[in-house]
Amino acid sequence: MKRLFHLSAAAVLLLSGAAASAQHFAKPEEAIAYRQSAFSLMQAHMTPLGAMATGKASYDPAAARLHADVVAYLAHLPWAGFVPGTDKGDTRARPEIWTDSARFQQEAVDFRQAAAGLSKAASSGQLDALKQAFSTTSQSCKSCHDAFRHKQSR
Ligand code: HEC
Repeated sequence: MKRLFHLSAAAVLLLSGAAASAQHFAKPEEAIAYRQSAFSLMQAHMTPLGAMATGKASYDPAAARLHADVVAYLAHLPWAGFVPGTDKGDTRARPEIWTDSARFQQEAVDFRQAAAGLSKAASSGQLDALKQAFSTTSQSCKSCHDAFRHKQSR
């Protein structure tokens, strides 16, 4: 498991290196797909953490650490995909992302901090710490969605 984590961490580090240059998407659809993919992956790793935090699944500290670390890495990715001109098309992004970008960026900063806290809590091996950090992190997801994501696909 440890070895697996190191491998996947290296892969994700490579990815975040790529994220910096991924600013130059050939088409708006690519930027939209990029950020949506990052969010989908985040969701996929938050779900099992949520199950452990609420007692629907038994607590597996090693798995929790892996999921939380992946969420913390992924938390750096979607923002590069919010290039101007990508509020139209197959997206639920609200125009406020660009008209109130200071607030959007603050939400992203707060979220990255919450996700780093989640990773720290998972590495402590304490279920109570994980529960607390999971709750803070999912509130951060929700706070941004309430302000910046359309409720329905348009
Ligand atoms: C700073 C703002 C922000 C934060 C924080 C955030 N999201 Fe989102 N999320 C968005 C926006 C905006 C979209 C719409 C993207 C689009 O459709 O182009 C989105 C879309 C999504 C989607 C749909 C992806 C798709 O395939 O269309 C999922 C799932 C999702 N977010 C999950 C999460 C989870 C889970 C977290 C927290 C762990 C999170 N998000 C944190 C802003 C945020």
